[in-house]
Amino acid sequence: MTPLQSLIQAEIETSGPITVSRYMQLCLAHPVHGYYMKADPLGSAGDFTTAPEISQLFGELIGAWLVDVWRQLGQPDPCTLIELGPGRGTLMADIMRIARLDGAFTAAMSVHLVETSPALRSRQTMTLSKLGIAPTHHDDVGSLLNGPALWIANEFFDALPANQWVHTDKGWNARKIGFGTQNQLAFGVDPTPLPAPKQTPEVPYGTIIEHSPAQDNVMQTIAEHVARHDGAGLIIDYGALKSGVGDTLQAVKSHKPTDPLDSPGEADLTTHVDFAHLARIASQSCTVGVGEQGSFLLALGLLERAGRLGADVSEQDQQTISLAVERLAGDTAMGKLFKVMGFASRPVSLHGLASWHDH
Ligand SMILES: C[S@@+](CC[C@H](N)C(=O)[O-])C[C@H]1O[C@@H](n2cnc3c(N)ncnc32)[C@H](O)[C@@H]1O
Repeated sequence: MTPLQSLIQAEIETSGPITVSRYMQLCLAHPVHGYYMKADPLGSAGDFTTAPEISQLFGELIGAWLVDVWRQLGQPDPCTLIELGPGRGTLMADIMRIARLDGAFTAAMSVHLVETSPALRSRQTMTLSKLGIAPTHHDDVGSLLNGPALWIANEFFDALPANQWVHTDKGWNARKIGFGTQNQLAFGVDPTPLPAPKQTPEVPYGTIIEHSPAQDNVMQTIAEHVARHDGAGLIIDYGALKSGVGDTLQAVKSHKPTDPLDSPGEADLTTHVDFAHLARIASQSCTVGVGEQGSFLLALGLLERAGRLGADVSEQDQQTISLAVERLAGDTAMGKLFKVMGFASRPVSLHGLASWHDH
């Protein structure tokens, strides 16, 4: 039993079954035993690998997108460049390295990072110090500065706690975590029905839907900030462009799926992001565009950039580059599973993304 499991069991014994979002919150962010409070979980020696860790191509193309949109916004100076959940700081480093091609952009930006993990904060500071950048860290989006800002979040929203709801003949009942017949942690359904927590299609009884108030809050805060102070941004994550149904809670440990209730605090826990829901929130105050990661990166020049990067390197390095292209943009790799949502305070061109319309 993990140390966190004892704490969770004690909480359930005292107060009854807990919601899925409470469980995710404890597993990911408990101040001592939370998954992200411990050492670096990324890379081949960790639990999972993200797009920026696959290749610099990813961050370079994101950097080119940000520079282009910043120019369309009239080159606001000063401007904050904010990354949510920056991992090892690799994406921000690749963005800032390519952005040096436009000295006015790098001169205008100050780098702000929203990060809860102490271990990753140190890692980010170290990565960016090599470029002469000293980032300012924040615990959450509530403490960010006023003024124009560019936003970036890769695999951040999926890590925010989400609730699950089961459709019953009485309405929507929260899926909760309590004890099973052997006293092990087990899923159950709260008997009290509530109204649907979000816009939901007609579905049969027994269907599970997910809703993350934490994601809503972050999206709302960003959209209001952008509308009030000017700016734009990109959210990249796995999920769907149309609101769907089903249980997407997943746990990953050492690059393998595991039972989400098996080792609380020792596996990464995520849910798929409902991009249509985020787009509905953002579009109340921003211009919004969406697309799949594969077509987005290809539209930004993934193949051309990969070709230039591979021009003067060994055959082995060329092979590494083509494998990275396939992983980032291939249909059976990240290309279709990962989605991109761009937003801006004004109707600028969100290159590579199609204008979002609610259906
Ligand atoms: C899956 S990693 C993605 C890392 C990075 N964006 C990348 O692409 O490599 C999730 C990141 O979000 C951070 N994180 C998770 N929950 C957070 C929260 N509630 N507030 C701030 N950061 C959080 C983690 O510490 C980590 O840096």
